[in-house]
Order: sequence, then C-alpha cells, then structure tokens
Amino acid sequence: MYTPNQIVRFMIESADWLCEHHFGRSLIDKNVDILDPAVGTGTFICELLEHFRGQPAKLSHKYESELHANEVAILPYYVANLNIEATFAAITGEYREFPSLCFVDTLDNTYGLRKHAGHMEDIFGAVSDENVGRIRRQNSRRISVIIGNPPYNANQMNENENNKNREYPEIDRRIRETYIAASTAQKTKLYDMYARFFRWASDRLDENGILAFVTNRSFIDSRTFDGFRKVVAKEFNEIRIVDLGGDVRANPKLSGTKHNVFGIQTGVAISFMVRKAKQKGCRIYYARRPEMETAEEKLEWLGGARLHDLDWVEAEPNSKQSWIDLGHDDFAALMPTATRQAKEANGTVQPKAIFQLYSLGVVTNRDDWTYGDEDSESGQLI
Ligand SMILES: C[S@@+](CC[C@H](N)C(=O)[O-])C[C@H]1O[C@@H](n2cnc3c(N)ncnc32)[C@H](O)[C@@H]1O
Repeated sequence: MYTPNQIVRFMIESADWLCEHHFGRSLIDKNVDILDPAVGTGTFICELLEHFRGQPAKLSHKYESELHANEVAILPYYVANLNIEATFAAITGEYREFPSLCFVDTLDNTYGLRKHAGHMEDIFGAVSDENVGRIRRQNSRRISVIIGNPPYNANQMNENENNKNREYPEIDRRIRETYIAASTAQKTKLYDMYARFFRWASDRLDENGILAFVTNRSFIDSRTFDGFRKVVAKEFNEIRIVDLGGDVRANPKLSGTKHNVFGIQTGVAISFMVRKAKQKGCRIYYARRPEMETAEEKLEWLGGARLHDLDWVEAEPNSKQSWIDLGHDDFAALMPTATRQAKEANGTVQPKAIFQLYSLGVVTNRDDWTYGDEDSESGQLI
C-alpha cells in the first residue's frame, strides 16, 4: 500500500511550515534530522528530496547525514533503496549510495528512545555489520521530525501480517504506562500497530520536534482512545488533525473504494504533533472533509491545501477527553430515569430522578416455564 502523492506532499509541506513557524528553521536546514520509521517503497524520502531540489549543497548534506528510514520487510526495503538512490541521481546528476536506510523492526529498536531506552543488542540476529552500523548511527542522532505512514490496518497488505499478534515488550509496556493508565474505558486494548508507532515516535522524538503521521482516524473519537488523547495533549504542545473520514463501518453509506483515500474500510486522518521544550499546555486544532466527499475529491483538495489556511476548529477537550462531538458530554447533566440514591431516599428528599422506584419486575428465574407455551400433544415446552 503506497501513500498517494498528494498526501505525502501535503504532509511534507505542512511539516516544513510548522518547523519554520515554531522553530524558525526549515526541514532542509542543518541539524534537522528527519526519520520515516515505516518507509515502504520510500515515497516520503523521495518526495523530501524533490522538496529540497534547487539547494544542492544542503540537499547533499541532508542525504548524507540527516535523512533516516527504516523498513522491516525485505522487498520494500530493496525497492526503497532503488527509488531513493534513483531520485537523488535524477535531481543531482550524481549516483550516491543512500547510507541511512536500515533493515530493522522499528518497534524493536528502542535503544534510541530518549527516556525509555532499551538494549541495542536485543534486536540483532542475522543482520549485516553494515546494517548494525547504520542503526547505531540513527540511534545516536537527535530526531527532529518523524514522518510517515505506519502500518495500522488489519486489511492492509503490508501490516507485517505474519507478525500481527506478536508482542513488543518495551513499547507495549510504555503503552500500558501511558495511554492505558490514563484511560477510563473498561476494556482497553491499545495495541494496534498505529498506536504502537505513535508511542514509539513520541518517545523517540526530540524535546523540540514534529511528528507527522497518516493513520487510522479512530483515535480522534473512539472511547478506548480517551487515554491516548489525554496523554498526547500532555506530551505535545500543538496538535493539528486533518480528518479525511472514510470510516465505512461507522457510516455504511460510504464505500471504501469510492470514499476512502486508501480504498480501505478504516477511516483515515493526518496528524501533526508539535513538541516544544519551553512551552506549556497544548492547543488542539481539528479540520475535517465533508462526509460524502469522494477519495478523488479529497486528494484533489489535499493537492492545493495549505496547513495554515485550513478551516480549523480549536478543540477544548472535556472531562471525558473528547476532542469532537462535545455535545455528548451533556448526557451527564440530564435527569436520570432512576438512581439508587433517589430510591434509597424513599421520598425524604426531593429525588433527582424521574422515578423514585425501580425493580427487576417479576423474577421467577424460570422464564421458560413462565412464558413458554405447552405443545398440546407432546406436553413439551415450545
Ligand atoms: C503503509 S506502508 C508505508 C508506505 C510508504 N509510505 C509508501 O508509500 O511506500 C508501511 C510500511 O511499514 C513497514 N513496516 C511494518 N511494520 C514495521 C516495523 N515494525 N518496522 C519497520 N517497518 C515496518 C511495512 O513493511 C510497510 O512497508
């Protein structure tokens, strides 16, 4: 599943604008290290090279030292290598090996995480010395921008299907300590691949940095992601979500192939999360596309969209960590049909419920006999 070019370009231009706006420097500037942790066939890195066209000296330095990419599957790894080197050659007229593509499972590589680093030795089985060297070099870098399209959907061909149920002990522990600990949902299972990549990237990113991912949109309003929403609002200072919709299960009138930008059933969103060491608080902005817009229209819109010109609505999270559909919070303010307190007050105080009395009704624990009809010939219950 490659990422449509309009999405890739919109994300790169937006990340560049955010970098300039918040940190006064561009993506191409020195010491802005950029990482795609799930590089696939290399679309983001290739588009970054295109984005840097026209500034040969800076482009050369970026290519040599400050662009990083990981891939776990061998075929896309080779294709990414070819694509990235061919793009660099087409732009500069010079063939040069791309030195920073690592053949590695990003989620296993916890050595570079800022405060929660794991052990480097854990991840290396039969990989070459050169690859180990590349991973070490990546881990030694401060990463300012993490950008990409991590795997997130069960039906996505390259979600690394064979390993779908495998555990990532370090990352899963971090998810439990953060997103799950902050959640009030009863059955909180937050081990989707895309949540893991958000966790990994949040821990890997520098204290001043930008995270830009296109993923499943369910974190925006699903009940089980309440802890996720609470935690990202603590770990980042500005969050901008472009909701591309297309969730076929939530709205059966939609069709995956017609309305979803990836042609899948799961809704999609692009997120930009900015972290600034010296800033407190978090502002969350939300923009969405019309529900019935087709995938083609969405991509065309993205082709001309500018992050700073979008119709943003600032979200004010309520006590339940809702970012949108805040109306649902009114529910708690409505008078309940019945409550135990009103029943127990037994008329001694004005009840704060419509009915003072409630019960289970007739309870025989023998419903078959109470309601069942008897077959007149056999005498059996029917
Ligand atoms: C949605 S694709 C990325 C598409 C890419 N942007 C493109 O247009 O080609 C996700 C990629 O992440 C890779 N991937 C999945 N799990 C990974 C992991 N744990 N570590 C590194 N790469 C992973 C998959 O093999 C796949 O190539």
